[in-house]
Amino acid sequence: MALLNPSLRTALVLLASLLSSSTAIAPSPRNPPPHPLCKAVPGTPNWPSTASWVRLNESTGGRVLRASPPGAVCHPGQPDYNAAGCAAVRDGWKTYEFHQADPVSVDWNQWANDSCLPFDGDPCSHQGYPVFVVNASTARHVKLGVDFAAKHNIRLVVKSSGHDFLGRSVAPNSLSIWVHHLKGIQSHDSFQPKHCPSIINTTAVTVGGGTQMIDLYTTLDEIGQTVVGGGGKTVSVGGYVTGGGHGLLSARYGLAADQVLEAEIVTPTGDIVTANECQNTDLFWAVRGGGGSTFGVLTSATLATYPTPHLTNLQLLIATPSTTPQPTIFAMVSLVLSYFPTLSDAGLSGYTFFSASFPSNSSTLAGGLLSIMVLQDQPPSAMTALWAPVFAAVEAAWPRTFLVLPETTEYPSFYAWFQDYFDTSAAGTNTFVGSRLLGREALAGNVSRNAEVLARFAGGGIGTAYLVSGKGVRDARPRGGGDAVLPAWRRAYVHATFGVDFEPLNRTARTEALSKVNYYLEPMRELAPDSGAYMNEADPEEPDWQHQFWGDNYKRLYVSYCPAAHLLFAPFQPLFSPLPGFRPRADQSRLHIKRKVDPNDVFWCTPCVGNERWQQIGDRLCRKVGNT
Ligand SMILES: Cc1cc2nc3c(=O)[nH]c(=O)nc-3n(C[C@H](O)[C@H](O)[C@H](O)COP(=O)(O)OP(=O)(O)OC[C@H]3O[C@@H](n4cnc5c(N)ncnc54)[C@H](O)[C@@H]3O)c2cc1C
Ligand SMILES: *[C@@H]1O[C@H](CO)[C@@H](O)[C@H](O)[C@H]1NC(C)=O
Ligand SMILES: *[C@@H]1O[C@H](CO)[C@@H](O)[C@H](O)[C@H]1NC(C)=O
Ligand SMILES: *[C@@H]1O[C@H](CO)[C@@H](O)[C@H](O)[C@H]1NC(C)=O
Ligand SMILES: *[C@@H]1O[C@H](CO)[C@@H](O)[C@H](O)[C@H]1NC(C)=O
Ligand SMILES: *[C@@H]1O[C@H](CO)[C@@H](O)[C@H](O)[C@H]1NC(C)=O
Ligand SMILES: *[C@@H]1O[C@H](CO)[C@@H](O)[C@H](O)[C@H]1NC(C)=O
Ligand SMILES: *[C@@H]1O[C@H](CO)[C@@H](O)[C@H](O)[C@H]1NC(C)=O
Repeated sequence: MALLNPSLRTALVLLASLLSSSTAIAPSPRNPPPHPLCKAVPGTPNWPSTASWVRLNESTGGRVLRASPPGAVCHPGQPDYNAAGCAAVRDGWKTYEFHQADPVSVDWNQWANDSCLPFDGDPCSHQGYPVFVVNASTARHVKLGVDFAAKHNIRLVVKSSGHDFLGRSVAPNSLSIWVHHLKGIQSHDSFQPKHCPSIINTTAVTVGGGTQMIDLYTTLDEIGQTVVGGGGKTVSVGGYVTGGGHGLLSARYGLAADQVLEAEIVTPTGDIVTANECQNTDLFWAVRGGGGSTFGVLTSATLATYPTPHLTNLQLLIATPSTTPQPTIFAMVSLVLSYFPTLSDAGLSGYTFFSASFPSNSSTLAGGLLSIMVLQDQPPSAMTALWAPVFAAVEAAWPRTFLVLPETTEYPSFYAWFQDYFDTSAAGTNTFVGSRLLGREALAGNVSRNAEVLARFAGGGIGTAYLVSGKGVRDARPRGGGDAVLPAWRRAYVHATFGVDFEPLNRTARTEALSKVNYYLEPMRELAPDSGAYMNEADPEEPDWQHQFWGDNYKRLYVSYCPAAHLLFAPFQPLFSPLPGFRPRADQSRLHIKRKVDPNDVFWCTPCVGNERWQQIGDRLCRKVGNT
């Protein structure tokens, strides 16, 4: 870029804007004409009248709630102030259960701009939260909310559990559709997608978009089945499946998105549609991995289910006395990780955490790694055999340095295992996370280089290596010939992730936390340059997120395809992505899916597919000038 001669650059910008000026898309008759520059906010003339809100409330049978910041009960100045209520909110704040049960609360404080924390001395305003909420329990309630937001040009958000690490489930000045009560779990011995000629010979389950993992697991366990699901009890199908969805069983069966046989979706234009391999196939493709709150609201999904496996679990600690130098600890972790591709191919999956200093009061154990690993339908002897060479290699490299404590347990079902190992981390913090997907070459290519990469976690950071991809994800055959999941998942074994906490109401701390996320991620990006990040657990400021989250699929999701422009610009391809105004010409039939299903950007979030035409300015969402 730096070498580009300015006049050539000017010419290219001009050419790009000429090309894009002919791409204006005629509004389809059912959609309103082009929007004003910003979405409406309360107190301005285009915000709907009270009478309009009352009509919306009546049409939903009284399901419109005025949003109240959950922390408001703790602030004497607030109308909702209530000392007893405050105690309950403070008790619940660290739990996922509290935030998922509240119409607007989210797990990570910064996404509501720390605007009403339940603590003494903190400010409290409504500023970071939606204005109204539709408490939806049917697709029709969802449709009424979507139509209202579209008609009145109001920012729309979708909240299920509020767990989102990217902050997509809350926004100021918005109408929120709360999908938590879209429940229902119905199992099938086989499944025939609507209007499809043949029956799919697999057991399956149809669930409401707000269904949570624990309810799904519990119900399926009663009939001896399970599903590809996540580690948190309250994670909901809506955000999980649309984002990809990994879990203990994905290594065997593919990601959660790959399990979808059919979806019911309320589209941005207010249609309640069924998407499967026979109808609305573009939407079917996009909603499986293309991200939450982008292509509509997933009101229900039908997922393939499996006989619940017998699990052999290994809880493994490889740790050192505190006197061991830190580089040795990371070298050990790096060596163990280099075995992961082979272990995965043999059927192993699970979670590994590593740190130079585990939070522990023990004076005899310092850093190392802790793994929770399972083999499905294989005996403990198989587990022992798999790990023997790994333990031998550690001992050979660092004789009598590491304590190796393996503990094997058997579980009769996934559900039984989950009772012991569900995610017990805390919510209610200010937290950013980061992700990198690592394939065989990244994990096993150069062990000493990896030791240096991991050493960035020295000084207290905890890194994780989730062994949740591998053969099952590589060989998955999503219905309809594919889905929008990042292709790098198919080559990955490990989803490496970590979190960085920071102090609320402190911009410096926030900035430092984001830099720290980047500091951890930078060498991992170098390690796996052609890979990407798992969008649901990614750095919200991941550079080039379009390609890091979707790879080549981004073209079909958003960037239109234009053979002529492609030829013309091919030699300068690397120059184009940074040009903000550039969009190649496209005829209607080749429009990318986001623009086709949501021509007026009723759904907008960041970092999300097709959000490039809008930006947040303060607490408002506005069109980018010259980018209509
Ligand atoms: C404790 C914990 C454990 C986790 N474990 C795992 C794991 O094991 N595997 C894994 O893959 N991920 C895991 N995650 C990450 C998880 O996938 C994401 O946080 C995901 O976004 C949660 O979805 P949600 O619907 O519960 O949350 P929300 O925050 O409510 O929603 C997330 C996003 O999806 C949108 N959305 C929600 N419902 C719908 C819907 N019905 N239709 C359309 N859009 C919708 C929201 O607008 C938002 O954009 C975990 C997260 C937490 C907090
Ligand atoms: C919507 O109607 C219900 C039932 O009449 C009422 O309880 C609720 O307060 C109304 N919502 C708003 C925001 O006024
Ligand atoms: C939302 O609706 C459900 C029923 O679908 C109801 O049980 C719940 O109390 C409602 N929540 C609020 C806050 O009104
Ligand atoms: C369906 O699958 C089951 C189990 O894989 C198999 O036993 C059965 O024969 C199959 N039925 C049909 C009609 O193909
Ligand atoms: C360490 O000890 C303190 C005080 O005895 C206790 O409160 C804390 O929970 C302990 N931490 C761990 C990780 O065991
Ligand atoms: C492995 O990485 C180390 C440290 O980064 C480097 O010095 C070495 O040249 C690499 N080895 C190979 C074979 O690439
Ligand atoms: C804000 O955070 C920074 C960085 O962590 C810290 O140095 C500073 O003391 C904090 N400011 C306040 C007022 O606490
Ligand atoms: C977040 O809150 C701060 C005050 O703490 C305010 O200055 C800022 O504008 C808010 N951000 C947004 C996006 O509203």
